[in-house]
Amino acid sequence: MMGKSALRALSVCIVLLSGPSLVHAQGNAAAGKEKSEPCAGCHGEDGNSNAPIFPKLAGQHASYLAKQLHEFKTEKRVNPTMTAMAEPLSDEDIDDIAAFYAQQKITVEKAEAPNALGEAIYRTGNASSGVPACTGCHGPDGSGIPSARFPALRGQYAAYLEKTLNDFKSGERANDANSIMRAIAAKLSDEEIAAVSSYTSGLR
Ligand code: HEC
Ligand code: HEC
Repeated sequence: MMGKSALRALSVCIVLLSGPSLVHAQGNAAAGKEKSEPCAGCHGEDGNSNAPIFPKLAGQHASYLAKQLHEFKTEKRVNPTMTAMAEPLSDEDIDDIAAFYAQQKITVEKAEAPNALGEAIYRTGNASSGVPACTGCHGPDGSGIPSARFPALRGQYAAYLEKTLNDFKSGERANDANSIMRAIAAKLSDEEIAAVSSYTSGLR
């Protein structure tokens, strides 16, 4: 039988093992709703943005949203407007706002159909240029993988997806860990970027 002190030592171990990197603070969505008021003009009251140049935030994973806000703040992701918006936010504000948007429902765009090129890139990649299938990380339905911070893409505006892929390609956006997305976007042609962006915006 395990003694009391052994049990205590074991529970300390478990706490240490599950350390701060895994225990992400749960934001308060109700507080986040109020704190997101200054964002509504561009991103919409419920995170379904008013114009295609403003990414939708509704239904995006909280872990990914928080990462982006921290990186706008420190200018690891470069966008002067968003840096100014993120600057006054505390860690708690960021968690609350991220929790709020994550709970909203994204509206889905209508992809230009049929889009065989976009579908092929998304589902199988391009073997001749070494582009991997997007499904591997962003999922067959574009819902991403929250624990890995692979963002959801489904329903996002095609114009934003296209701009972002071009920013990864040119290196203007460089906040992707291990250059994952920069390496992939560099291998995509302009035509493939436009096609996969349109296709992805119609996923649900
Ligand atoms: C004046 C318009 C404007 C306002 C106000 C604004 N944003 Fe943004 N936001 C943008 C634009 C433009 C981008 C896309 C930047 C880019 O192209 O990299 C963006 C990107 C983002 C992203 C990254 C989304 C993604 O899919 O990677 C997050 C998160 C975000 N904004 C959160 C917020 C929050 C939270 C607020 C309020 C505190 C806010 N924004 C206020 C214009 C705005
Ligand atoms: C190996 C995993 C992986 C694969 C494969 C992958 N992605 Fe990504 N993608 C990521 C990660 C990680 C991010 C988030 C980068 C960050 O943290 O800023 C991302 C971000 C994105 C974004 C930005 C989303 C936003 O809201 O700003 C787009 C667009 C995107 N990927 C499109 C694609 C497309 C299209 C493909 C297939 C051609 C693809 N990705 C394949 C891992 C991947």
